[in-house]
Amino acid sequence: MRIGIFPSASECATYAAQMLADLVASTPTAVLGVATGSTPEPTYALLRAAHAAGELSFAECEAFALDEYVGIDADHPERYRNVLLRHLVTDDATGLRAENLHTPDGNAEDPHAAALAYDRAIAERGGVDLQILGIGADGHIGFNEPGGALVSRTHVDVLTHQTRLDNARFFDGDITKVPTHCVTQGLATIMSAKKILLIATGDAKRAAVKELCEGGVSAFWPATILQMHEDVTVLVDEAAAADLALADFYRERWEN
Ligand code: F6R
Repeated sequence: MRIGIFPSASECATYAAQMLADLVASTPTAVLGVATGSTPEPTYALLRAAHAAGELSFAECEAFALDEYVGIDADHPERYRNVLLRHLVTDDATGLRAENLHTPDGNAEDPHAAALAYDRAIAERGGVDLQILGIGADGHIGFNEPGGALVSRTHVDVLTHQTRLDNARFFDGDITKVPTHCVTQGLATIMSAKKILLIATGDAKRAAVKELCEGGVSAFWPATILQMHEDVTVLVDEAAAADLALADFYRERWEN
């Protein structure tokens, strides 16, 4: 795990956007794993700016979303497919084509079968080259909440009260409007990505970051499974890094 501690969230985003730009420069047909939530938004803004400046294009890339709500209206602005279309596709944002943005089908007649098909589709494309992740305050990645299997594949799951509370800000602050179920890539699906880039910013993430980097691997903090992946980069701002016991060592290692 490479841990980069940056003064601010915007510097995390600059580094993340550069990693994506470097990947697509060397592999124009890269398969990207994309997250929603607030954390990657500044990174997506930088990618759009780089595309507008003619410095990068996802025109030949495919992208797989981490997760989707179950039972959300197809045209709801917070449906993750619609969120990602706005960030990466609409108005030729990054060059990514709508047909190359894959999202789990949360409205399928049989969401369980759709989850399995989604997992297979990722494998058929040769797997994700670079997976972008945020992290929940309870240590979830994707929507893999505490207490799930560390070896799960894409599946239907229940959102915790905490996650629905956290996400209520996207639903007029009303938790009752936040869906109760999701389809999410499983932890083993995420772990099959070739490279992983996790970004965590802000004070609310400090406990999760502490566990992610320095805790024991446990289903209680699902993100800790990433300690078993050989190519993970974690980008944190000072606030999210506040509880790291070995922060000085991580800084030294990052600089050298
Ligand atoms: C989003 C996702 C979630 C978020 C996490 C953090 O696709 O899978 O794991 O990354 O809930 O959300 P933010 O970034 O809004 O704090």
